[in-house]
Amino acid sequence: MIRQLDELKTRAFQELDSIKDGKELEAWRVHYLGKKSTLTSILRSLATLPVAERKPVGARANQVKVDLESGLKEKQAALRAVQFVSGTGREIVDISLPGRPLPNGRRHPIIQTLDEIYDIFASMGFQIQEGPDVEWDYYNFEALNIPAEHPSRDTMSTCWVEPKAASGEYNMLLRTHTTAVTARVIEKMAPPIRVIEPGRVYRYEATDATHIPMFYQIDGLAVDRGITLADLKGTLYEFARRFFGEERKVRFRCDFFPFVEPGVEMAIECLTCNGKGCRLCGNSGWIEILGAGMTYPEVLRRGGIDPDVYSSFAFGIGIERLPMLRYGIDDIRLFYGNDLRFLRQF
Ligand code: DAH
Repeated sequence: MIRQLDELKTRAFQELDSIKDGKELEAWRVHYLGKKSTLTSILRSLATLPVAERKPVGARANQVKVDLESGLKEKQAALRAVQFVSGTGREIVDISLPGRPLPNGRRHPIIQTLDEIYDIFASMGFQIQEGPDVEWDYYNFEALNIPAEHPSRDTMSTCWVEPKAASGEYNMLLRTHTTAVTARVIEKMAPPIRVIEPGRVYRYEATDATHIPMFYQIDGLAVDRGITLADLKGTLYEFARRFFGEERKVRFRCDFFPFVEPGVEMAIECLTCNGKGCRLCGNSGWIEILGAGMTYPEVLRRGGIDPDVYSSFAFGIGIERLPMLRYGIDDIRLFYGNDLRFLRQF
């Protein structure tokens, strides 16, 4: 009987060696360790053996059982490892496949434009200052020389925030321009001042290819002794040269803004027709890109800076137009449509 057990063990391990999948292994288990297996029936019949044989046969049979069980476990583990690699198991994981690449995020074209402008002005000594999007009427209008009944309020359709219950008077709004930050800076900082003020601005306007109710601006402000219009021109000329290229012609013309005197507008030679005149520039050959001027003395005085000692220039740039001009984008809404096919191009 002991020899029978030893032969059984040898055969079982030989067969186990050649087993290649889980199905074969299960058949092997049933055959050698199952309820109807030879081993099980030997174990069951131990009681019927003569007492002298009972002990050694029992011990050997149990040892064979333990060996076969551990052989089974080892084989199961080995098969699982093979399946994992080759993907032949029920759970198909092919670790030889290349990983799925995670899509890279990227910066929005408007943020890229802002960063580029920060760099240009930072190299000229300007710092960044920010202000709140929800603004007091005072900083957005009043402090900038635009009193309550001033007609220029009509040019900036304003989103007002809840009127004060009692008086019905609106005095909070979504800022219509980042020049509101200029009013705050004049009040808060002491000269010499050189700052740029980026941020979102809001207008109560219908949306079309050139208008959206929220867009970005950067205002700028320099306050010091002896600042002149030549400083303004030099600074903005340098900006245009660095942003649009050395050869791009720049033109300054008079314009009106209530918080500057004199006020100017700066235009660049049209990027589409190079000054010849086309649909984009309305046949003028020029495209206006910003407003600027010498800060009105009263605006400085109201913020606590003595205009007899200090003078100042200011400017304001709309941001979306810059990449539109540079890349020939004809619809401002594309920037905020979240269409990745558009955004991935930058
Ligand atoms: N705030 C003006 C606007 O939104 C632009 C502007 C013009 C800003 C002249 C300035 C400036 O600082 O000096 O249309």
